[in-house]
Amino acid sequence: MTKSFRLGMIGYGFMGKAHSNAYRQVNRFFPDLAYQPVLQAVCARTRDAVQAFADVWGYDSIETDWRRLIERSDIDAIDICVPNHLHQEIAVAAAEAGKWILCEKPLAKTVAEAEAMVTAIEKAGVPNIVWYNYRRVPAVSLAKQLIDEDRIGRPFHYRASFLQDWTMSPELPQGGAALWRLDAEAAGSGVTGDLLAHNIDTAMWLNGPITRLVASTETFVKERRHQETGQLAPVGIDDACMVLVRFANGSMGTFESTRYARGHKALKTFELNGADGSLFFDLHDDQYLHYFEYQSPTTHQKVESHLAGWRKIHVTNGEHPYMNHWWVPGLTIGYEHSFVHTLADFLTGIESGNPAAPTFRDALNTQRVCEAILTSAEVGQWVDIRL
Ligand SMILES: NC(=O)c1ccc[n+]([C@@H]2O[C@H](COP(=O)([O-])OP(=O)(O)OC[C@H]3O[C@@H](n4cnc5c(N)ncnc54)[C@H](O)[C@@H]3O)[C@@H](O)[C@H]2O)c1
Repeated sequence: MTKSFRLGMIGYGFMGKAHSNAYRQVNRFFPDLAYQPVLQAVCARTRDAVQAFADVWGYDSIETDWRRLIERSDIDAIDICVPNHLHQEIAVAAAEAGKWILCEKPLAKTVAEAEAMVTAIEKAGVPNIVWYNYRRVPAVSLAKQLIDEDRIGRPFHYRASFLQDWTMSPELPQGGAALWRLDAEAAGSGVTGDLLAHNIDTAMWLNGPITRLVASTETFVKERRHQETGQLAPVGIDDACMVLVRFANGSMGTFESTRYARGHKALKTFELNGADGSLFFDLHDDQYLHYFEYQSPTTHQKVESHLAGWRKIHVTNGEHPYMNHWWVPGLTIGYEHSFVHTLADFLTGIESGNPAAPTFRDALNTQRVCEAILTSAEVGQWVDIRL
C-alpha cells in the first residue's frame, strides 16, 4: 500500500520548478514506490508570486516564512531550494523538527556550516539527500556500472570541466533575485561551489576520494553594482577555477570550471582513462556514453586491433539504468529526469533502510574538496584533504 508524505518546498525558482516536476512525475513512472508525495505547501517571501507558483504546480497551501513552514505539524519533508546562505539554518531547524530533508547543492557555504548540518541531521536520524542530480543521468549511471564491472581497469587519469559564459559582461550586477550567485555572501563561492561541486561529486562517486589538490582561481571582474543596494561593491566570488588533484586510487585528475568560456552555456564533461578502457561523457549529448574497450574484463583478451575504437552507446535500452521506466528503446529523456531518478532513489532508500547517496555526510566530503580548492588558490600551495 502506498504511504503518503506531505512535502513543504522552500523556494520556487529554477530548482523549485525542477523538483516540483519530479514530485509530480515520480509515482507515475516509478509506480512500485512505497511512498507518494503530497504537495502540501510551498514557501517563499512574496505572497502573490508564491501563490501563482502553487496554482501552477498544485500545492495545497503557501507560506511566506520558512520557519512557519517547518513548525507545521502537517509537513513531513522539507525540500531546500533557496540560495546557499540559507541552507544551514533551514536544514538544522528542519532536522530538529524531525522532518525528512532534501537539500540542493552545494550543501552549504563552508565546511563549518556543512558539519553543523550533518551533526544535526545525524542526531535527529532523519532521511536526507543532497540533489547532486547528474549522477542519475542514465549515461553517467552507466559509467558507474562499467567501472563497477571492472571494464576500465587501473585508473590513470580523470578530467572534468563545467564551462559557461553568462557572467562575462562587467555591467551585470551582483546579488538579489537571479544574481545571488555572483554575491559571495549568498553563494559562498563562485564557480567552485556552483559548477565544480557537481563535477567533484560525480568524480568521487566514479573514481573514489580526492586526497590532495592544488588550485588557481580568478575573479576577472573585480567590482560590480549590487542589485539590492545599488552600490558598486567588490566581487568576492571566483569566476574561474583550475585544479590538479590526486585520487586515493593513485590516479591524477584535472578540473576546470568557468563562467567566462565564450560560447559555452553548460559544457559539462568528464573522461576517465584506465588500463583496460576509457569513458567520456558530455552533457550536451547526455543520452550517450562514449566507451573505449581495450581489453575484455571477462576473457582478459585484448580487443583485436582492427576492431578497436570508441563506442558511442545510446543509453536508451531497457537494460540501461532507469530507462525501463520511460519510453521504448531509442527514445530519449532529458535534464529533468535526473531529478525524478534522484527522488525515486531517495524514496526507495527510505523504504529499504539503505539510504540513497549522496547523503548530507557524502556531500560534506564534496564541500571539503571545494573548500580545499579555495584555500589552495589563496595560499598557492598543495592542500591535503581529510575525508
Ligand atoms: N542541482 C542542480 O543542478 C542545481 C541547479 C541550479 C541550482 N541549484 C541549487 O539550488 C538552490 C537554488 O537555486 P535556484 O537556481 O533555484 O535559485 P533561484 O534564484 O532560481 O530560486 C531561489 C528561490 O529562493 C527563494 N528565496 C530566496 N530567499 C528566500 C527566503 N529567505 N525564504 C524563502 N525563499 C527564499 C526565491 O524567492 C526563489 O524562489 C541553490 O542552492 C543552487 O546552488 C542546483
